[in-house]
Amino acid sequence: MGIGLAIAKQAAEEGARISLLARSLDHLEKAKQSIWEAYKVEVSTFPADVRDYDAVERAINRAGPIDVLVVNHGVYYFEELEKQGVDVVKTMIDVNLMGSFNVIKAALPSMNKDRKHKGPASIALMSSMAGQVGTYGFAAYSATKYGLRGLAEALQQEVIANNIHVSVIFPPVTETPGIEQARKTMPEITKIILDSTVEMTAEEVAKVTIKGIKSGSFSIPCRLDGRALAMATAGLSPERSFFMASIEVVFAGLFRFVGLLFQWNWYRIIEKNNSRKNQSPEVSGD
Ligand SMILES: NC(=O)c1ccc[n+]([C@@H]2O[C@H](COP(=O)([O-])OP(=O)(O)OC[C@H]3O[C@@H](n4cnc5c(N)ncnc54)[C@H](OP(=O)(O)O)[C@@H]3O)[C@@H](O)[C@H]2O)c1
Repeated sequence: MGIGLAIAKQAAEEGARISLLARSLDHLEKAKQSIWEAYKVEVSTFPADVRDYDAVERAINRAGPIDVLVVNHGVYYFEELEKQGVDVVKTMIDVNLMGSFNVIKAALPSMNKDRKHKGPASIALMSSMAGQVGTYGFAAYSATKYGLRGLAEALQQEVIANNIHVSVIFPPVTETPGIEQARKTMPEITKIILDSTVEMTAEEVAKVTIKGIKSGSFSIPCRLDGRALAMATAGLSPERSFFMASIEVVFAGLFRFVGLLFQWNWYRIIEKNNSRKNQSPEVSGD
């Protein structure tokens, strides 16, 4: 199960009215069916490509009022930049970054309308730990996920007057159909680095996401290591909790130190792998 469906299922369990948008009609129908079977909640589905602004706008207008907009869609192809096609880089930027602008732009007019007379609303963007730290093979993907944070920080300042909270979620590697596919072709070094981390399930990420949205958190890390990474990379991002802000200030130096240890370990892995490659005998076709 993907992270989006897991979030939709948990929201359905809590009684939310749900609309889903994705390209594949077949996947949407299956998602709708599984939510109905589990919770007897009717779901509206909208087949659209987030790269197509007009299609997204039509879908959002048909979906009706939105209190919580979860911008979860995303694609990832892991490869060294030198080998990765420019078309693949462009696809990731268009879907992950431009697609997020399209969804948010299309939803903003109705979300902003008459907000002061309603309760708070939320816009949640699905970034990744790859949006906090660069990893071998992730150049294009990381660029898109870092981009979402910049979008979120600026947007939060623009929509706060209308009582809209912006959140950014930073999951680690998560067991989903997408990551299963990506694992088949990722570079060896990327695999070694990712294998040194512990995966989460889509349900676990969904649970943290919904809890974070409810509490109005700007930054939503998914685990203790994610929380430490969020503190190490907090920069000038908003923090609504006085307690968390105090921890960030007090432990900033320590988190920087731990971050450097991680970097040192990754560069050691890369160096080892490169020297093993250089030592292996050339295969000759003669
Ligand atoms: N899995 C991980 O390890 C991981 C870790 C951190 C962050 N994330 C992020 O979490 C999000 C979900 O990832 P996932 O692993 O659950 O992926 P997934 O299983 O591949 O699901 C991706 C979803 O995005 C939709 N999508 C892709 N391209 C689209 C497009 N052009 N227009 C509309 N919808 C589109 C897909 O539906 P269609 O194909 O039908 O369009 C699918 O529903 C992504 O943003 C990903 O970057 C994932």
